[in-house]
Amino acid sequence: MVSSVNHSIASDELCGGGIGGERKLPEPCTIIIFGASGDLTARKLIPALYHLFKEKLMPAAFRVVGFARRDKTDASWRQELRDALHQFSRTQPVDEKLWQVFAENLCYCQGDLSDAADYQKLEALLTSFGSGPLRENLLFYLAISPSQFGEVVEQIHHCKLLNKESSAWQRVVVEKPFGHDLASAHALNRELTRYAHEAQVFRIDHYLGKETVQNILMFRFSNSIFEQLWNRNSVDHIQITVSEKLGVGGRGGYYEESGALRDMVQNHMLQVLSLIAMEPPVSLEAEAVRDEKVKLLKSIRLLTPADVARQVVRGQYFAGVVGGELRPGYRQEPKVKTDSNVETYVALKLLIDNWRWSGVPFYLRTGKNLPQSTSEVRIQFRPTPNVLFAAQCGSQLDANAITLRLQPNEGISLRFNGKVPGLSLGVRPVRMHFSYDSEFGAYTPEAYERLLLEAIVGDATLFIRRDEVETAWQIVDSIRQGWNGQPLTNREFYAAGTWGPIAADDLLAQAGHVWHEPQVIQ
Ligand SMILES: NC(=O)c1ccc[n+]([C@@H]2O[C@H](COP(=O)([O-])OP(=O)(O)OC[C@H]3O[C@@H](n4cnc5c(N)ncnc54)[C@H](OP(=O)(O)O)[C@@H]3O)[C@@H](O)[C@H]2O)c1
Repeated sequence: MVSSVNHSIASDELCGGGIGGERKLPEPCTIIIFGASGDLTARKLIPALYHLFKEKLMPAAFRVVGFARRDKTDASWRQELRDALHQFSRTQPVDEKLWQVFAENLCYCQGDLSDAADYQKLEALLTSFGSGPLRENLLFYLAISPSQFGEVVEQIHHCKLLNKESSAWQRVVVEKPFGHDLASAHALNRELTRYAHEAQVFRIDHYLGKETVQNILMFRFSNSIFEQLWNRNSVDHIQITVSEKLGVGGRGGYYEESGALRDMVQNHMLQVLSLIAMEPPVSLEAEAVRDEKVKLLKSIRLLTPADVARQVVRGQYFAGVVGGELRPGYRQEPKVKTDSNVETYVALKLLIDNWRWSGVPFYLRTGKNLPQSTSEVRIQFRPTPNVLFAAQCGSQLDANAITLRLQPNEGISLRFNGKVPGLSLGVRPVRMHFSYDSEFGAYTPEAYERLLLEAIVGDATLFIRRDEVETAWQIVDSIRQGWNGQPLTNREFYAAGTWGPIAADDLLAQAGHVWHEPQVIQ
């Protein structure tokens, strides 16, 4: 029995939807998850849907259909998901009564992605929901390998579940990786858009679901004091750090095919960069925001092999101590070649050839087995003329900086100079902190909650458009061409537990800059 309890959207949620402004009401629909027995479904998707239900943000009527090969009944799938929810839910304890009501909407369809008959079974199940929106409004979530996307899209089209022309809506949500270079991204996009319009394809980068990443646009475009300084006249350089304290662990097989550049820079870091640097969009509509992001990505200067040698540093960790724990070197990790040259660290300097940012270096760095897990953006402003306080501080007078802490300790800090109390004229940098937790309490929805809700209501602002993916690959490909499969040199190794190879410090030192260690806010 499927419940139709009305958990419709609360009236106080009606204004201020996603970045795209006023939230549309979610229409009744069915969410079909391909890969229903996998890790992503249990750890992220079902907990996110449960929380949307809890927050009364799900449509008045909905179903969730899971599709995978393993043999399960509706009851056994629900039971497994309940157990997973107890483990992974961001709110504890799980509300058992609410879960029971929610779980009545979950059905399992056993099937193989390569078997046309199994899609007919799926179609029959959807038709059993009636001829209304539960059969017609369909969100397909492909929690499967990208190599299977093309086949699924073709099969669901053939059994009339996905159409380019339909009075109802059908959408396809896909997860990264979106290819491994420009050519494969082109091929994947062609497959996806053979049977669906680009507007029906929702590419997820879970970074864009984070509150702090969405706040970049609010911070920039709703505060006149900052926006006026957001350009080459005031900004000296920008640093974006995404560091991970973990090594590759059990994901060595995946990482051997990917590396830090493709795993982090092509998607999350270039997405954050585009939000930090883009021009104001003409509106908050999805296409207006995405147009500006693409324009920005297109104005990033592509690197020649000579630029790569000067502006990009890669690294790989060897054994070392992280947080008191001895970690093996990358080449000793399971499923990693003992002579692997895959980079677990990359630092790079990018230049943006547009009016606003001409000449301002953007430094990006990301890596594994670094001292802290943190994501932050530091806007480093130009120093004041060294006239008034030269006697006290000389060239040491600190320049102002704004740090956007994306995670953890989500918030924003402003660093400026102040007088040291006392009779002498001492000047010292001080900080003003804004913290999400202390300002708004601990309520922070998981990125997947936001993204699933936006996909259900059809707002594509937080999803990546085809041209964004392809432009980002052009930048990454230009770097990989510069590396040209060359083995790592001694200078490119770093001990686990350090901030990466020395060469990354030299990269900034050339311009008189230094990496700033991410802030730890108490
Ligand atoms: N896990 C994460 O946190 C995460 C984060 C970001 C992106 N992703 C991406 O999301 C996708 C899924 O990741 P995952 O970690 O959930 O993988 P997973 O745990 O290996 O699950 C894969 C799922 O695909 C199903 N499947 C595979 N071949 C199938 C076939 N021929 N017919 C029917 N079902 C098939 C499997 O079901 P059966 O074995 O029962 O058939 C299983 O449910 C991957 O592309 C991954 O890169 C995952």
